[in-house]
Amino acid sequence: MTRIAIYPGTFDPITLGHVDVIQRGLKLFDRVVIGVAENPNKGPTFPLEARLAMARDTFADEPRVQAVAFSGLLVDLARDQGAHAILRGLRAASDFEYEFQMATMNRRLDENVETVFVMAREDYTFVSSRFIREIASMGGDVSGLVPEAALPHVNSLLKGISG
Ligand code: PNS
Repeated sequence: MTRIAIYPGTFDPITLGHVDVIQRGLKLFDRVVIGVAENPNKGPTFPLEARLAMARDTFADEPRVQAVAFSGLLVDLARDQGAHAILRGLRAASDFEYEFQMATMNRRLDENVETVFVMAREDYTFVSSRFIREIASMGGDVSGLVPEAALPHVNSLLKGISG
């Protein structure tokens, strides 16, 4: 049986913290499917296509990682992809409450999908997509915080273009 995990998120943009979690997931699962949520409620800065492209380009050389867009329930995506696990990363205790609620709700929606948490590497505990957007939009240097493949997209925030 192929062990498949969904790694869901808004990825607005993908960070090296996300990449670290995926690499840890690859030690536990045969395949990791990055689920890029459309998430209009969060009002993402980057269009869905750009968020998807950043994820795909980052893992272009890793055949065990795919990225797909989704707009419905996460458990439905898991079912469609044949995944029995949802992968999430924890940075700090402050992440716990939201993650606990989400994992419990997803278990209520589908008992067959297990949420698995891994701890992000210490170097990335302070990295968040929100800070990256803020720093990039104010002209700060975000290299070393986002994957190389995402840099052109993120730096385009400076010019007010996202794509
Ligand atoms: O990176 P984020 O923004 O914390 O990711 C949030 C995400 C995409 C995992 C969450 O919003 C989600 O699962 N959305 C899909 C809708 C859904 O299934 N909701 C019920 C789960 S509580």
